[in-house]
Amino acid sequence: MQIFKYKDYEEMSKAAAAFVIREMIKKPDLILGLATGDTPIRLYQNLIKAYQDYIISFKEVKTFNLDEYVGIDANNPQSYHYFMDNHLFKHIDILPENINIPANDPDDMEKSAEEYNKKMFGNQRDLQILGIGKNGHIGFNEPGTQLGNMTFIVKLDEETRIDNSRFFGSLEEVPTHAITMGIKNIMYSKKILLLASGKSKAKAIYKTAYGPVNDITPSSILQLHPDVTIIVDEDAASLLNMEGNFLEF
Ligand code: GLP
Repeated sequence: MQIFKYKDYEEMSKAAAAFVIREMIKKPDLILGLATGDTPIRLYQNLIKAYQDYIISFKEVKTFNLDEYVGIDANNPQSYHYFMDNHLFKHIDILPENINIPANDPDDMEKSAEEYNKKMFGNQRDLQILGIGKNGHIGFNEPGTQLGNMTFIVKLDEETRIDNSRFFGSLEEVPTHAITMGIKNIMYSKKILLLASGKSKAKAIYKTAYGPVNDITPSSILQLHPDVTIIVDEDAASLLNMEGNFLEF
């Protein structure tokens, strides 16, 4: 596990973009795992800029998103389908058939999960981008999750619903369930890039780095992956014992 610390959100987002751009230049047909939430937004803006400047193209790139809420329509501005379209896809040259986001048909969630697992089979992600919840969730793998899970339907933690209610009109409007890649799917990607910004993430980053590895902090499992890079700002790194701007385990 390698941890890089940057002054603030702007600087860490530039570094994250440079990381992704390097991978895209090395392998133009990159299979890329994507995350939602506030944290990757500036990274996506930097990638759009790099595309506009002809530094990268998404023509051959395939994407797989981590998760989606259950029961809200893809056209709903709160859905992750809408988020991705708005913050990335509609600004770049990705082919629609190369975009994969878990389907959230409330009538047949088991089938949606199974189909998503099937789609990922044979499409091992070269790079998975992750954010992190305050409680250490990755994707929507909440504390207590089964570490061997593949894509599944999850009941969201109250803390997660409260955190995410800022995107909705009220807490009542936040869905109670989501469909998410499981820890096993996440661990199956060749490289992982986790981003965290702000004091509210410091505890989760501390536990991710120093463990113990357990289901109470789902992100701690990343200690067992062979190729994880964590990019944080000073606030998110504030509980780490860092002399300089780099830590390696
Ligand atoms: C949601 C997403 C996660 C994301 C987390 C943190 O719960 N399912 O994938 O990492 O939010 O979001 P933010 O970056 O807004 O703090």
